[in-house]
Amino acid sequence: MLAATLNHLFRTVNHSFLSLFFLTSSEVRAAVLFSGASAKPAAIEGPKKYSRGLQESNASIPTDGWDGHMHIIDPERYPLSADAVYTPSAHSVWDAVTFENTINMKNIVVVQPSIYGFDNSALLDAIRALGPDRSRGVVVFNATNIDNNTLVEWHSLGVRGVRLNLASTEKTPDIEVLRSEIVKYAAIIKPLGWMLQIYMSMDLLPGLQSTIDGLGVKVCFDHFAQPSKPSDNSTMPFNPYSITGFQSLIDLLEQGNTYVKFSAPYRVELESSQLEVVAKEILRVRSDRAVFASDWPHTRFEGLDIKPFEERCLEWAAEAGSVEKVFSTNAKSLWDICD
Ligand SMILES: *[C@@H]1O[C@H](CO)[C@@H](O)[C@H](O)[C@H]1NC(C)=O
Ligand SMILES: *[C@@H]1O[C@H](CO)[C@@H](O)[C@H](O)[C@H]1NC(C)=O
Ligand SMILES: *[C@@H]1O[C@H](CO)[C@@H](O)[C@H](O)[C@H]1NC(C)=O
Ligand SMILES: *[C@@H]1O[C@H](CO)[C@@H](O)[C@H](O)[C@H]1NC(C)=O
Repeated sequence: MLAATLNHLFRTVNHSFLSLFFLTSSEVRAAVLFSGASAKPAAIEGPKKYSRGLQESNASIPTDGWDGHMHIIDPERYPLSADAVYTPSAHSVWDAVTFENTINMKNIVVVQPSIYGFDNSALLDAIRALGPDRSRGVVVFNATNIDNNTLVEWHSLGVRGVRLNLASTEKTPDIEVLRSEIVKYAAIIKPLGWMLQIYMSMDLLPGLQSTIDGLGVKVCFDHFAQPSKPSDNSTMPFNPYSITGFQSLIDLLEQGNTYVKFSAPYRVELESSQLEVVAKEILRVRSDRAVFASDWPHTRFEGLDIKPFEERCLEWAAEAGSVEKVFSTNAKSLWDICD
């Protein structure tokens, strides 16, 4: 064992920082001992910035990673819709590629932001530029007047889903209205094999569970499916099933057509330790149904550093033995991506 380790070290230690990066701390110590003074302290710092869990699992982002949710926003070249509720700064395809490099993501799913309404031009130009090997799109359209030719054209560019924003300011939205919206969009996308991306509060899930269960299309909930704070968090350890709708989410995941995004913790009401319990329970139940996403450029939270969250997701996934799934293969099955 020691001989093999040393052999490995002598092959790697002089070569690159990157090799050291993936060594365990005891190997790093060995590297320092056996390479004389040549290993630079800076290189040894590498693994320390990760938590113990990551060092133990040696986890890293797969080379064929997919960021399952991000936006292209360019108000100069692509005017926002008249009723856009905020005006972010420009985030072009180039900016996106630069950003994705910093989080080791090679491929992206571009999602239509609300501020562009039904005008998917910026998104479509982005996936045209990147091509279907590296990108997919999730559009927004008006179900009343969409025509099949448009859908087929978008499909050829790499669009594989429609986004439905059911987040409401009303305390008690009309569940029948939501139900009919979901059914209407599902019927349109079903022949194309697209997924239905839903943004809504987990509170509403119990009332919509049977509808979603029967759609026959893939469904993905944004941002941990938006759990609300549990009314009672006195039980220790924290019980995720005390969150309204969590049991429905788990039932839907088990049924197989439902996915959930690990994204935008800053849009989730739970405390960080509670979110961790939620994430781990999802992975325990269906590690093949969780998809990592950056939510770049984190609209309304612009400038925040998403890397610590990515590292947490990596730890959770590594612990569940599901790094490839969460960062790559689950996205491929959700957005119809061939190897
Ligand atoms: C981490 O990598 C080292 C060196 O390649 C290996 O010996 C060790 O078993 C790995 N640990 C895990 C948990 O895979
Ligand atoms: C959707 O299209 C219909 C028919 O053209 C129109 O009446 C309706 O106002 C549109 N909905 C929105 C939200 O623009
Ligand atoms: C679009 O295609 C679907 C399935 O092929 C079909 O059921 C529907 O009638 C078509 N709609 C129009 C407007 O052509
Ligand atoms: C849950 O517990 C935390 C930490 O004790 C507290 O800050 C928070 O307000 C509690 N939330 C609810 C909804 O009781």
